[in-house]
Amino acid sequence: MMKVSYFIFLLVLLTTCTVIDAFDRGDIILLHNFDGSDEEAIWKKFLNPLIQLVATDRGDQALRIERNLPNSPSTFISIPLPALALCGYKIRIQANIKAAHISIPPNSWNGIKIMLHTKGLSGDNYPQQNLPRGTFDWRTADYIASIPRDTQQANLVLGLEAVTGTVWFDDVKVIVYNKLRPPPPSPPPPGLPFKGHNLTRLRGAMIGTNLKEQDFRDFGSWNANHIRWQLMWNGFPHSPADNGDISAYEIWLESALKHLDSMLPVCRELGMHILIDLHTPPGGRNDEKECNLFKEKRFQDTFISLWEKIARRYKNESIIWGYDLVNEPVEGIVPDDVMDWQQLATVTIEHIRAIDSEHAIIIEAAPWGGPGVLADFEPLPFSKIVYSFHMYEPGTFTHQSVYDDIPPVSYPGIIDGKMWNKDQLRVNMKRVLDWQHDYNVHIYVGEFSAIRWAPGSSAYAYLRDVIDIFEENNWDWAYHAFREWPGWSVEHIGDKDNTQYSPIPTDRQNLLMNWFTQNEH
Ligand SMILES: *[C@@H]1O[C@H](CO)[C@@H](O)[C@H](O)[C@H]1NC(C)=O
Ligand SMILES: *[C@@H]1O[C@H](CO)[C@@H](O)[C@H](O)[C@H]1NC(C)=O
Repeated sequence: MMKVSYFIFLLVLLTTCTVIDAFDRGDIILLHNFDGSDEEAIWKKFLNPLIQLVATDRGDQALRIERNLPNSPSTFISIPLPALALCGYKIRIQANIKAAHISIPPNSWNGIKIMLHTKGLSGDNYPQQNLPRGTFDWRTADYIASIPRDTQQANLVLGLEAVTGTVWFDDVKVIVYNKLRPPPPSPPPPGLPFKGHNLTRLRGAMIGTNLKEQDFRDFGSWNANHIRWQLMWNGFPHSPADNGDISAYEIWLESALKHLDSMLPVCRELGMHILIDLHTPPGGRNDEKECNLFKEKRFQDTFISLWEKIARRYKNESIIWGYDLVNEPVEGIVPDDVMDWQQLATVTIEHIRAIDSEHAIIIEAAPWGGPGVLADFEPLPFSKIVYSFHMYEPGTFTHQSVYDDIPPVSYPGIIDGKMWNKDQLRVNMKRVLDWQHDYNVHIYVGEFSAIRWAPGSSAYAYLRDVIDIFEENNWDWAYHAFREWPGWSVEHIGDKDNTQYSPIPTDRQNLLMNWFTQNEH
């Protein structure tokens, strides 16, 4: 009860996120079991014929939400969370859920909703747990979500979106999952931040996994000076690594490194500085796309020893810029006997530094390496680290019709209810700029892109604007991606069905090549 009145006190006082260290891991933010008269009093105002408190087969009460008519509005309850007090934290959202006759959703993200919706200056976020359709008995939903620092409103949304059927929610609980990162040093550390190279800028791209010498020569003819070399085992986010067979993983990794070795001479000749990116960590990902690296200790042991192996192999190689330890790490709920990302990165860097004291180590924040989570990341206690984020915001625009066919989304324009233009992109990435200044570290944009079938010149306009901002901020950057999945290819025109290389350079290819003319090698 103490805590609950404390929240109300905070809510009255705060009008913007002030990032205060008010909570400990495990503090309960919200707890509803839907039993008894107190709960009935709380929920009364939400109830209607489709949203009811009902007795369950377990002898208590639950919240039941129904949707019978496919063309009716989606049925939701939206429970406000104390956003201004929670900004900067990660929360754990839990509930017991049972369902009957949930229809096939039109889009992958529709269906039963137990979703956080955060709203802030940088944009909206909708982290959720995917649940099956059809009929299932009581099961647990349990996931971690971030409340970005600039959040102004946060709601927990329960219900059914664009599907018919019945869902029961019980024991809905939101708890604090982490401590807030400590405040930055004041003043920030002095001197020039470590970049790991002596060039004005690294400008290049992620590349496909099986490129031949001629591909490197072609990219060299564009005057790129950087490639992000993905060690990816046959697919992302899912890969054969998901099976958890460590000896098969090690065989794959060795073959991937042999391919890198064979291309080092041509990269050296072309002055293409390479970042080694572990795109498929040992253990792969689970159904929730969380890295199994954060589920089982044996994968962490393999992870540490593979980075020792890579460091031993490339410690004298000057065309290697650095080591990007995990691409887009996602922890989910980390068991007590397994290290979280902060701890694992720390231990791995100690092991690498015992072998290779020089090469840059590149760190992305969890989950998913976006700009918001980097701004909540506590820098690691080492020098010679470069921090990286991936820029795909707003994802509704950059990833349109990648997973589901949706109506075309233009940039600049209103996206997810917000005007997105260069100013908004600047606001979005200011979080990273502020964080960078607080800690005096160098920033690398390891991926950014816009799907080539975005309408008209939208993809070009988005890429032009984000690159301008990277350049304003002196950030190194790698376009996603050169001769990888054709959806991201600047050598293909906007027509989704056209799978041939364009006979003349596209506006997006010319944009990259124009920037590359400034490259040193
Ligand atoms: C950058 O230049 C300095 C000074 O010449 C040199 O010591 C260092 O090794 C160079 N770094 C790289 C990565 O080439
Ligand atoms: C790296 O350089 C050191 C010092 O020159 C040398 O002893 C070592 O064998 C080299 N290692 C590799 C992997 O080439």
